Amino acid sequence: MATTLAKAAEGAVAERTHAARIEHVSKSFPGPAGPQLVLDDISLDVAPGEFVTLLGASGCGKSTLLNLVAGLDEPSAGSIETTGRPALMFQEHALFPWLTAGKNIELALRLRGVAKADRKPEAERLLELVRLGGAYGKRVHELSGGMRQRVALARALAQDSRLLLMDEPFAALDAITRDVLHGELTRIWEETGLSVLFVTHNVREAVRLAQRVVLLSSRPGRVAKEWTVGIPQPRRIEDADVAELSLEITEHLRGEIRRHGQH
Ligand SMILES: Nc1ncnc2c1ncn2[C@@H]1O[C@H](COP(=O)(O)OP(=O)(O)OP(=O)(O)O)[C@@H](O)[C@H]1O
Ligand SMILES: [Mg+2]
Repeated sequence: MATTLAKAAEGAVAERTHAARIEHVSKSFPGPAGPQLVLDDISLDVAPGEFVTLLGASGCGKSTLLNLVAGLDEPSAGSIETTGRPALMFQEHALFPWLTAGKNIELALRLRGVAKADRKPEAERLLELVRLGGAYGKRVHELSGGMRQRVALARALAQDSRLLLMDEPFAALDAITRDVLHGELTRIWEETGLSVLFVTHNVREAVRLAQRVVLLSSRPGRVAKEWTVGIPQPRRIEDADVAELSLEITEHLRGEIRRHGQH
């Protein structure tokens, strides 16, 4: 009996060894000359609590893959499994301009089924977490780009998902603001134990943030190579270790772009 229970517990743990499991996923879109293969046989796991960046040239299919993981579209072949419903954050904050920062977050809490009386304190707690305490009553147009992305992050966290999918969320920000938000995201990731799948075409950003960098090739997108990043956090984008690994990865990325250019 004890053995059976132990086996069952082991099984339950084994089932939770990934926050996302992408298995042999391909995706084609209809094109003028027939179906266009964008993603070809991608397999990738994200472990619970792991931070993975997906890196690749523009147009290689990063957003397509993230949308598939988010369940916004269906793969043409293969399967995708996630632990619960993932939260999403994009380059465009997509906040509702007619709502305040606080109410934008409360909307996500309402959709999650949080009781009315609990929404405001929870929205305030999340704003504190992204260091925007005091911004509850501010409207979107009163916030800077960096502040808007903080609210968008708080709103994503309000979904209480175990997996956060981020598609170039800081690409439109200036370098200093981006640097600050990298630090905040790392801190929040460490505090919450969330799994993160983060898309970028910025090699330094990928290395600055991730435990693992996965490089996608272009046309079609395939997993070209991956790196485990052992550099301890907190890292800075200008750290020598970050620069060194970024250089190595950039060489591979250039190779991918050259190869793609020859087609
Ligand atoms: N809904 C769609 N219908 C047809 N083609 C699409 C669709 N979505 C994406 N594509 C094509 O798939 C390819 C990959 O696009 P995707 O947006 O995933 O690239 P990306 O790696 O995110 O690029 P970027 O770094 O510029 O954001 C592109 O050639 C694009 O035109
Ligand atoms: Mg994209």
